[in-house]
Amino acid sequence: MKIAMIGTGYVGLVSGVCLSDFGHDVVCVDKDPAKISMLEQGEVPIYEPGLDVLMAKNVAAGRLSFTQDLATAIDGAQAVFIAVGTPTRRGDGHADLTYVMAAAEEIARAAKDYVVIVTKSTVPVGTNRQVKQVVHKANPSLEFDVASNPEFLREGAAIDDFMKPDRVVVGVQNDRAAEVMNEIYRPLYLREFPVVTTDLESAEMIKYAANAFLATKITFINEIAALCEKVGADVKQVSKGMGMDGRIGNKFLHAGPGYGGSCFPKDTKALARIGQEHATPMQITETVISVNEEMKRRMIDKLQDLCGGSFNGKTIGVLGVTFKPNTDDMRDAPSLTLVPALVGGGAKVRVTDPQGRHEGEALLPGVQWVEDAYKAAKNADLLVILTEWNEFRALDLKKLARKMQTPRLADLRNIYSVRDAKRAGFEAYDSIGRKGFS
Ligand SMILES: NC(=O)c1ccc[n+]([C@@H]2O[C@H](COP(=O)([O-])OP(=O)(O)OC[C@H]3O[C@@H](n4cnc5c(N)ncnc54)[C@H](O)[C@@H]3O)[C@@H](O)[C@H]2O)c1
Repeated sequence: MKIAMIGTGYVGLVSGVCLSDFGHDVVCVDKDPAKISMLEQGEVPIYEPGLDVLMAKNVAAGRLSFTQDLATAIDGAQAVFIAVGTPTRRGDGHADLTYVMAAAEEIARAAKDYVVIVTKSTVPVGTNRQVKQVVHKANPSLEFDVASNPEFLREGAAIDDFMKPDRVVVGVQNDRAAEVMNEIYRPLYLREFPVVTTDLESAEMIKYAANAFLATKITFINEIAALCEKVGADVKQVSKGMGMDGRIGNKFLHAGPGYGGSCFPKDTKALARIGQEHATPMQITETVISVNEEMKRRMIDKLQDLCGGSFNGKTIGVLGVTFKPNTDDMRDAPSLTLVPALVGGGAKVRVTDPQGRHEGEALLPGVQWVEDAYKAAKNADLLVILTEWNEFRALDLKKLARKMQTPRLADLRNIYSVRDAKRAGFEAYDSIGRKGFS
């Protein structure tokens, strides 16, 4: 089967590479010439573990190629995936569909034969029908169907998530489109990964409902963590005890500095907006959004307390700036709130991240980038663990404490414990939802 993938970002590139690994012929298109030129030279523009190897394998097998020219890519393709960005629209929280609709129009103008236009981008309910109208208007004689195929992969584990999904969701309007989609996902279906076939609107809604639910779960445990700190409970023990309940589950129950990333912030806002537009307010989601914002502010207070009330004149080391480990993605990362607050408060900030510097340099002005945690700790008054990269999970805490001016640790990912910090010689330690010391 020949497939075109429009957009070679975190979702489009991973999906294109994985679909080619299923045995399909895939051409990936991007309008960003820099990305296409890197890809043509065998370089991966994003950091995603394992993607370089899988990409090279499928390019070598002749199943995967890259182009800026959409018309070449979709020539003879039975399916065209739209995997472009749907960021938050300025001003109202709605998902910005400009890129999706532009891609739909381009497809309409270039397509000649029957094709299924598959929206993989996360889009509000009703968008696939809108895509259908746009395509029909631009090319009334084109025979085509639309399909909704939201993506659930997690950055940092994207290949595994695509190859071994909990489920694949496919929204279609007729059997013809369903057959094309079944053919695309046959390798997964054969290995008994469930493919859930729905109507267009349900598929679109599943994606937003799933992300809003996960954001709610994280925010719930973050709020419980805040209470734990007040009443003397330990949120790690609370999470463990809660998560063992099969009805709850232990995933997404780790307290932290508030969710960020490329999806949860924008998708919760978009769902809230969809609810408002349909006079059915998503009150839980709206509350989650505001509680999450509050969590980030709470983190600033925590750090300020550890610094004796003011950041002014302090040297602070920050470990991790990406929104989670194993990605270079900085979109809506908690670091984008916390680090500017430190710099703005008059601190000298030293930052290290295994993959974040490339993106982070432009986003975090006024900081000094260093190679590792020990360099970040040198003569510092406070060290902050912000992203739980493996590199920060087994630090030599004694060595860190020795290097610091005043050894204080803010462990915003609950990697270490009061005991670890005391043993290492720290004079103050704080984490999330657990008693610290100072
Ligand atoms: N990042 C994730 O983890 C994730 C997970 C699930 C779903 N999603 C959804 O998938 C969609 C894509 O997200 P992403 O993170 O991959 O975005 P991204 O910003 O990393 O990539 C989008 C790419 O599309 C390209 N593009 C835009 N318009 C184009 C056009 N007309 N022709 C060719 N290329 C075009 C851009 O140049 C860019 O490279 C979003 O709707 C997002 O919500 C993302």
